[in-house]
Amino acid sequence: MKISTTIYWFSGTGNSLYVAKRLTAGLGGASIVSMASGVPVEAVGGDGEKLGFVFPSYYCNLPRIVRAFAENLKIRDRTYLFAIVTMGGLGQGSIAELESLLKKKNLELSYGRGIHTPANYIIRYNPADKAKMEGKLNKVNEKIKFISSQINFGVRSVKKIRLSTNYLYKNIENLDSQFYAENTCASCGQCAKLCPAANIKIDNGKPLWLHHCEHCVACISWCPKEAIQYGGQTKTRRRYRNPKISANEMITAMKLPN
Ligand SMILES: Cc1cc2nc3c(=O)[nH]c(=O)nc-3n(C[C@H](O)[C@H](O)[C@H](O)COP(=O)(O)O)c2cc1C
Ligand code: SF4
Ligand code: SF4
Repeated sequence: MKISTTIYWFSGTGNSLYVAKRLTAGLGGASIVSMASGVPVEAVGGDGEKLGFVFPSYYCNLPRIVRAFAENLKIRDRTYLFAIVTMGGLGQGSIAELESLLKKKNLELSYGRGIHTPANYIIRYNPADKAKMEGKLNKVNEKIKFISSQINFGVRSVKKIRLSTNYLYKNIENLDSQFYAENTCASCGQCAKLCPAANIKIDNGKPLWLHHCEHCVACISWCPKEAIQYGGQTKTRRRYRNPKISANEMITAMKLPN
């Protein structure tokens, strides 16, 4: 029987999209669907089907957009479900959260793993320099190869930790009032196109943040002029983007609803 696989992905700075794409290749082909484009209306999965979720860890938990997607997605019984979290350090609490969310829907998470990727959270710290970033990225492909082979064999194993710092992520949607664009902004509109939460409006050529932010740091990290700042702490910090993913690819792959 031909097994069909779908990977749902969410990403701010490209790590999770990169992982989703490489997994697709490792699994011998899969449909790859952006969680930011909305929840499918029809039920998905079923006997002999594999569904995967690939996303970053936020405060050791699920990004809100991923949580809402997984809560609302109608999944048929007997689907092989897998979750891969990309994380700068310790993020497998996100796997534990997804597992319990699915349990409440009487579904079992079959497989879960974390992959260490460069940490992108410019708002809290200076992202890794080039050498560190390359060191981490070099190990990612090997890990994806291993994970793909396990998923291909239908291995059932969930690696998680019971740790959540989610209280720090509460009410984060309003903290976008600390974002602003400097005069170097070229009015290209890319920040608005890249925002997976449609949280940026271009007004008089400049971005305005609309207070339903995910804190994915896409806008500040991808701005071609590095014109976006957050409070006083980001002026001297590096902007991290996965070097194998371009802004155009992110925008096209997201297929945001109009
Ligand atoms: C809001 C936010 C919270 C984060 N929290 C964690 C965390 O708890 N643990 C961790 O290991 N990495 C954390 N990170 C780092 C990202 O999970 C990591 O860099 C990820 O690979 C980014 O994926 P992306 O490029 O697909 O957006 C956080 C990043 C952001 C933006
Ligand atoms: S991406 Fe940067 S330069 Fe382009 S509109 Fe946004 S802030 Fe301005
Ligand atoms: S406003 Fe910026 S940080 Fe917030 S969701 Fe959009 S791109 Fe991400």
